[in-house]
Amino acid sequence: MSTHIEAKKGEIAETVLMPGDPLRAKWIAETFLENSFCYNRVRGMLGFTGTFNGKRVSVQGSGMGMPSAMIYFHELIKEYGVKNIIRVGSAGSYQEDVKLNDVVLAMAASTTSGMNNSRFINSDYSPTANFELFLKAVNYAQQHNIPIKAGNVLSSDEFYVDDPNEYKLWAEYGILCVEMETAGLYTIAAKYKVKALTILTISDSLVTGERLSAEDRQTSFKDMVEIALAATMD
Ligand code: ADE
Repeated sequence: MSTHIEAKKGEIAETVLMPGDPLRAKWIAETFLENSFCYNRVRGMLGFTGTFNGKRVSVQGSGMGMPSAMIYFHELIKEYGVKNIIRVGSAGSYQEDVKLNDVVLAMAASTTSGMNNSRFINSDYSPTANFELFLKAVNYAQQHNIPIKAGNVLSSDEFYVDDPNEYKLWAEYGILCVEMETAGLYTIAAKYKVKALTILTISDSLVTGERLSAEDRQTSFKDMVEIALAATMD
């Protein structure tokens, strides 16, 4: 076991899907995986391993924000030998044409987080998706007529911001949406030479103020998980 994950060696697959919400991890395992079992209950951050189309896949909650998620990314890679991480999460739209329920592939992640500032003192690093996973996700979405958008996203440290217009600067530079983990994921994946991709569903809009109901979130989550699982296949 590692500090925050109680799985025995070998219980976690080389490929892991990572929603922020541990109950989403449970839902994904129950809905999409065969013969799944729970390998982690520490701090309620549930993790499961099962099979999808005969291939072993794990699903692990990450919690919200980079400080939490980086703990799980780090331990999965360094202690459990994970090679592919696909984050599946929700995001707030920064663009008029990025609508509720849209699926967004994060090609890159800008950030307001202090974490990369302290890693690359006074310089900017561009955290970028793994091309192979990205291409598989695009191909699956196109073959199944699932509309996707792809581009730069913002990984923010804050969900609640004081200034409702703050997003406009980022929007001007083409940022599609805001979430809270991807810049950390792409950075640590690059450092340890593993593959990472983030797939997001738009759950709210900073442009219009709309937000999805909990029920609608579930439906749109399905397309995203199907794309993620397709990207895990050889
Ligand atoms: N995830 C979903 N919506 C978000 C928002 N508005 N800000 C940050 N993360 C989010």
